[in-house]
Amino acid sequence: MNKGQERDLKSIWHPFTPLRGMEEPLVIERAEGVNLFTNDGKKIIDAISSWWVNLHGHSHPHIAQAIAQQAAKLEHVIFAGFTHEPAIRLAERLLEILTDNQAKVFYSDNGSTATEVAIKMAFQYFYNQGIKKNRIIAIDGAYHGDTFGAMSVGERGPFTEPFDPYLFNVDFIDFPHTEKETVVFEQFKTLIETGEVAAFIFEPIIQGASGMRVYSAELLDEMISLAQQHNVVCIADEVMTGFGRTGSLFASDFLVNKPDIFCLSKGLTGGAMAMGVTTCTDKIQAAYRSNDLMKTFFHGHSFTANPITCAAANASLDLLLTQKSKEDRERLKQLHTEFADRIEGHKMVRNIRVLGTILAFEMNTDKDTSYFNEARHYLYPYFINRGILLRPLGNVLYLIPPYVISDHEMKFIYDEILKFLNNPESVNKNN
Ligand SMILES: Cc1ncc(COP(=O)(O)O)c(C=O)c1O
Repeated sequence: MNKGQERDLKSIWHPFTPLRGMEEPLVIERAEGVNLFTNDGKKIIDAISSWWVNLHGHSHPHIAQAIAQQAAKLEHVIFAGFTHEPAIRLAERLLEILTDNQAKVFYSDNGSTATEVAIKMAFQYFYNQGIKKNRIIAIDGAYHGDTFGAMSVGERGPFTEPFDPYLFNVDFIDFPHTEKETVVFEQFKTLIETGEVAAFIFEPIIQGASGMRVYSAELLDEMISLAQQHNVVCIADEVMTGFGRTGSLFASDFLVNKPDIFCLSKGLTGGAMAMGVTTCTDKIQAAYRSNDLMKTFFHGHSFTANPITCAAANASLDLLLTQKSKEDRERLKQLHTEFADRIEGHKMVRNIRVLGTILAFEMNTDKDTSYFNEARHYLYPYFINRGILLRPLGNVLYLIPPYVISDHEMKFIYDEILKFLNNPESVNKNN
């Protein structure tokens, strides 16, 4: 253990990290492009974009400069009763690239707050109109964040168990695996036809945390259509899928029927700073425009629309909307597809999927596919020792790299994965 690790362990409690039996955290001194550099000189390729947030590479000079300039000009101001150019410009630009039914931008701090705001916004939308609807539908396996509202609409399991008594009731429909689509649609229809459903929240066409599980855009489209016919607010949680991850700027671009509310975060600032955004239609906001004070949306955070964060997001959009970034995303999809073809039929591999810049597959182990499949525990150190950051979700190995990763770097990652697949015994399972 080095000095930095010793000091860390004395004073810091890390997220999603068991306090016994885990490796010491690596101390990262700097990062550039797709590479993280440890304080003892090791280089690690960030193949998961640091929890799916990084788009353009680490410490990108354009974003760094925007942050520095904004910090020197206006670092923060209360966002009630005040506004500023970086927030206005960012809202205008987001509305321009989102589906054209989106009209208003509400800022918050991260992905969990973006979904939390969306849920509250939907419930109060009905409350303000005196309409009694208090049920919400979510999909099995969903992950929408770690605050209480977000946890409530997420998969109930070992992560939420200590809190289950405090989570509100949610109607979960089954995950729409291809062979279950008809059954799931019927479950959904039965719930919608009760007339009691206020909202339907979903990760459009791919669930992230449940293991990068892809499902049908056509089915989701039908569900949204039915829901909207019954005045149910449809919430697209694009925290993971937003900003080009799935090949289009937003996963909802693959839909004909447009969601009423969007949740954004992660890639919003190119992964440089924490920020959440919830956008909605004018119809939703209209229910709040009233002289009655009680119809106000009483929600806000101290750092709402922080100018430095907005500047980072604007700078990230500059990069994202270039032809170069678009080509990078297409290139990545092409590389993933070629690799998927290469490992198709491998005895260790099943259910390979490529969606835009995301590649995932399940590894055949003697246990079922699940987050708690032990494969994660030995694969993480195995790949770190080879200079690659991968964080398998149980036995689901996935790649979601920054868009700027080179062909050469991707080849290195694919080759290392293949080496492991061809010789799984080389892994030290006692790690
Ligand atoms: C779809 C989705 N929603 C919400 C969140 C929560 O975001 P945050 O970790 O920023 O709170 C995540 C995080 O992984 C996510 O994948």
